[in-house]
Amino acid sequence: MSTTSAVAFGSIEEVEAALQRERYLPDRGLATAIYLALATRRPLLLEGEAGVGKTEVAKTLATILDAELVRLQCYEGIDASQALYEWDYARQLLYARAIQLGEQGVRSAELGLYGPEFLIERPLLRALRHGGSTVLLIDELDRSDDEFEAFLLEVLSDYSVTIPEIGTVEAAVPPVVILTSNRTRELHDALKRRCLFHWIDFPGAKREAEIIRVRAPGVSEQLATSVARTIARIRELDLIKMPGAAEAIDWAQALVLLGADAVTSEAARVSLGWVIKNRDDLIRVEELLPELLADE
Ligand SMILES: Nc1ncnc2c1ncn2[C@@H]1O[C@H](COP(=O)(O)OP(=O)(O)O)[C@@H](O)[C@H]1O
Ligand SMILES: [Mg+2]
Repeated sequence: MSTTSAVAFGSIEEVEAALQRERYLPDRGLATAIYLALATRRPLLLEGEAGVGKTEVAKTLATILDAELVRLQCYEGIDASQALYEWDYARQLLYARAIQLGEQGVRSAELGLYGPEFLIERPLLRALRHGGSTVLLIDELDRSDDEFEAFLLEVLSDYSVTIPEIGTVEAAVPPVVILTSNRTRELHDALKRRCLFHWIDFPGAKREAEIIRVRAPGVSEQLATSVARTIARIRELDLIKMPGAAEAIDWAQALVLLGADAVTSEAARVSLGWVIKNRDDLIRVEELLPELLADE
């Protein structure tokens, strides 16, 4: 599919089918949100617990659209320069020294130390420069602070930035933008208003079994069903850290290695660390195992 055809999905069903071909099984709501985001060229903000497939949406879309995935991983303390561009001080210094020493090949200091050759492109600048041929993933935005969020809102409003020494860089065609948040804090209304918002829920047992099967082809249907059912029950408990699809897939694969063809209490006991990653949760789930596995 060509780069300018980011909007070319004719229907929600087409989006669904394209994702499925890349082994991503969306529910109807997510497929609809993606369809609308592409058709309206609006950024798509995906929220949900860890492991529900938010990041994977962006990766899969990049593949489907034959676009480059440009990923901006957010973290505490990230600032505009780390997201946009930095000057290559080491190179500038070497260059300045070379001019001083009158080395050959360095024509004159007039070339300047703030030319494009000294600019280190960070993800946002890259996405603006390459616009329509990129999928820009702004991952785990909730980890950054208010100030960074405000800066991002500005960039997402007009898809252009001004670099004092170089000028304005504007995306000819805006990139496809996917933002994700694990909701460790609430994002601001202004940013949400700019985006199309979608909450990704945990999949139901049936779809989770299908996800396990497409992601881990060595898992039998029976085992996938058993794992998905058990995980659905585990999620009904009030745990500190709920298992996501990623944990379901890992657990199923571990159980295959243990020679189990369903979640039995013996197999579960030795492999729970694949699915429960918090000590208090582990103690609770171990206690409740007989009930959780009642009819497995
Ligand atoms: N709907 C889905 N279809 C297929 N695989 C999925 C789906 N949801 C999650 N996964 C699997 O779970 C893994 C973790 O998903 P990820 O996108 O990293 O979660 P998040 O970013 O929400 O924490 C993915 O690599 C993928 O293998
Ligand atoms: Mg993620």
